Amino acid sequence: MEDINSYLLKNKQQLLNELFDLLRIPSVSADPAFATDVVGAADFIKNKMEKMGLDNVSIEETPGYPIVYGEKIINPDLPTVLVYGHYDVQPADPIELWESDPFEPVIKKTSTHPDGAIFARGASDDKGQMYMHLIAVEYLLNHKALPVNVKFMIEGEEEIGSPSLAWYVARNHEKLKNDVIIISDTGMVANDVPAITTGLRGLAYLEVEVTGPNRDLHSGLYGGAVANPINILTKMIAQLTDEQNHITIPGFYDNVKELSSDERAEIAKTPFDLEQYKKDLGIDEVYGEAGYTTLERQSIRPTLDVNGIWGGYIGEGAKTIIPSKAYAKISMRLVPDQDPDEVPKIFEEYFTQLAPKAVKVKVRNLHGGYPYVTPTDSPGYKAAAKAMKRAFGKEPLPIYSGGSIPIVPLFEKELGSKSILMGFGLNSDAIHSPNEHYGIFNYLKGIETISYFYDFYNQQNK
Ligand code: BES
Ligand code: MN
Ligand code: MN
Repeated sequence: MEDINSYLLKNKQQLLNELFDLLRIPSVSADPAFATDVVGAADFIKNKMEKMGLDNVSIEETPGYPIVYGEKIINPDLPTVLVYGHYDVQPADPIELWESDPFEPVIKKTSTHPDGAIFARGASDDKGQMYMHLIAVEYLLNHKALPVNVKFMIEGEEEIGSPSLAWYVARNHEKLKNDVIIISDTGMVANDVPAITTGLRGLAYLEVEVTGPNRDLHSGLYGGAVANPINILTKMIAQLTDEQNHITIPGFYDNVKELSSDERAEIAKTPFDLEQYKKDLGIDEVYGEAGYTTLERQSIRPTLDVNGIWGGYIGEGAKTIIPSKAYAKISMRLVPDQDPDEVPKIFEEYFTQLAPKAVKVKVRNLHGGYPYVTPTDSPGYKAAAKAMKRAFGKEPLPIYSGGSIPIVPLFEKELGSKSILMGFGLNSDAIHSPNEHYGIFNYLKGIETISYFYDFYNQQNK
């Protein structure tokens, strides 16, 4: 039987070409202008699933974008692995900061990727990582070596909070029944420091609107006498954190689990170069909550961030007004055991109370999700760790990530199974940023690792 490494070597160009074709489809779920392309990406995945020989392949219609399903049940008595990934991508904006067309993939060398990386929106998050799973299973099928059952569920709304997937999962418990879920939509520490993500942060995402006068006013005639909603909004935002960079919302930390000193010592073992980190970001100093390290601040501590703020006149030149309205998009990353349904409530209560009577405040809850932690002694984790050890020649580190995949805790609640977050991206991949890329090394290593996972998972269950 042809081993995976010679298979990858022989088929490298073909495997890149296929991914390039998928990356050329601008499947931006957030922007209705790309609706046809989002559906086009779903069709692309469906065609691939059919070609590679999966059964019951279907485009599952939902109230939103479709979910692509496919499976190979070789024996109902064997364990079943469910693969989740997403074919939608973030908007490419700001497009002028891309060095190449975000939807015309090119290969370029970088300092972390001397073998070259694929530059395109979605290369790392998540098309490149999701596609590795299709290729790995295709290889196993071609060589009659798939040792367990597999189901694929690839969605198109992850980047907008997976509203339809929650709807779909709730209606398809039996069909989606599985023993473990595997997902590659996270990262490692470095190409020579493999890792498995054991924690994700949750999320509460709100939009606030502050209204002053019922129309924009002349700032000479009215200025000084009427509340300026932008001045007020920025003052309110400034009060949401204190000098120590603690969040001031009453009750915000009530359910936050403090880690033990042993757990914090584990985190501190993750290789981390602060000077390189600052250099990469072009900053002179890091900034964050007092009493915590940078690794802790960006993984096990909750945050509050303004993602965007607007209002008033932002055109050419000067226009003298007191604007009628001001807006901001505010997100909070949550950690165990914070509740994404409760946090927006205490936020709204506090935020409204920060406002003077001279303005009106509206708070809208856009979306949210629970934090997630998974143990390192489950059969799925152990199989993933063995697969990584075999592919990288090194034991993977368990890491907490600061990112969120809100559907993961939902899978556990609805389907009762653990998700193994076996991601192959790097923080330097610039996901959600201009010039997103994914290492060719990572793409091929990922396929190799996933192919081993199936064997080790089967052995774990014997
Ligand atoms: N794949 C990311 C999440 C991620 C990336 C987790 C790297 C860990 C490491 C996912 O596509 C994402 O961007 N999630 C969003 C949340 C979603 C509800 C929009 C996020 O974390 O902002
Ligand atoms: Mn993703
Ligand atoms: Mn993303």
